[in-house]
Amino acid sequence: MQVIKTKNQLSLILTEERSKGCNIGLVPTMGALHQGHISLIERCVQENDICVCSLFVNPSQFNDKNDLIKYPRQPEKDAQLLREAGCSILFMPDEQEMYPEQDTRVFNFGQLEEVMEGVYRKGHFNGVAQIVSKLFDIVQPNKAYFGQKDFQQLAVVRKMVEQLSMGIEIISCPIVREKSGLAMSSRNALLTLEQKEKAALISKYLIESFTFVSTKTPAEVTGFVKKSINAEPMLRLEYFEIVDGTTLQGIHDWTDASCVVGCIAVYCGSVRLIDNIVYKNAD
Ligand code: PAF
Repeated sequence: MQVIKTKNQLSLILTEERSKGCNIGLVPTMGALHQGHISLIERCVQENDICVCSLFVNPSQFNDKNDLIKYPRQPEKDAQLLREAGCSILFMPDEQEMYPEQDTRVFNFGQLEEVMEGVYRKGHFNGVAQIVSKLFDIVQPNKAYFGQKDFQQLAVVRKMVEQLSMGIEIISCPIVREKSGLAMSSRNALLTLEQKEKAALISKYLIESFTFVSTKTPAEVTGFVKKSINAEPMLRLEYFEIVDGTTLQGIHDWTDASCVVGCIAVYCGSVRLIDNIVYKNAD
């Protein structure tokens, strides 16, 4: 695996590979890799001649500076995990390399960014779009891989690719869970053992809520999840919404959309966790 720190060097290598007819896959990450990331890398390795993983903790997507400072970092361990997973290139730029000057671009994703994460993390998706568009420009991948845990991020990235006519195939990969059901996240490293146990209740209630779909309305299922989480003293619900999986707008009836997803954000101590459950899928 090559470890590359500059855009120019990466572009040179990838131009050469592309001229040989190689397909390029990209897995953008902020590091602190876990099995969820590794599942993306493995799929990228399988489906492309070259798998590029970017590791960059992007300041422009953090609306809370403390969150940025606290974000777990373990670059050496990450490099080792990527080597073992068969990654071809690790792109690990520093801030100066990615933002030689302030990125003042403002994206508009309309109603996709006016709900859920967009409400509670103002500017977050603009920052995600800034860094992902830069990475897409540098790598020019055929395919890019994102985890379905960040459901809204996937919708926003798809929209950006469409708006900018980037012609990149966005691949959504399933959530990977711990044995307890807790969705894998770099932020789990910040939880104490006791908090980790309590955080597993998030997925427990989501899975339980799935069993009510045939007998309860979306509003009733929403009520069940909210009440269950609110009854846990170590958990603080930020939002739970049942939405159309394409438009991300709330639904009133299960027949309102062909894909229906329940998205949740919960604080466990000071750690903010997100998860989701697909109640109904178009495919
Ligand atoms: O999902 C993430 O880890 C980040 O939002 C991403 C896509 C790597 C952009 O910084």
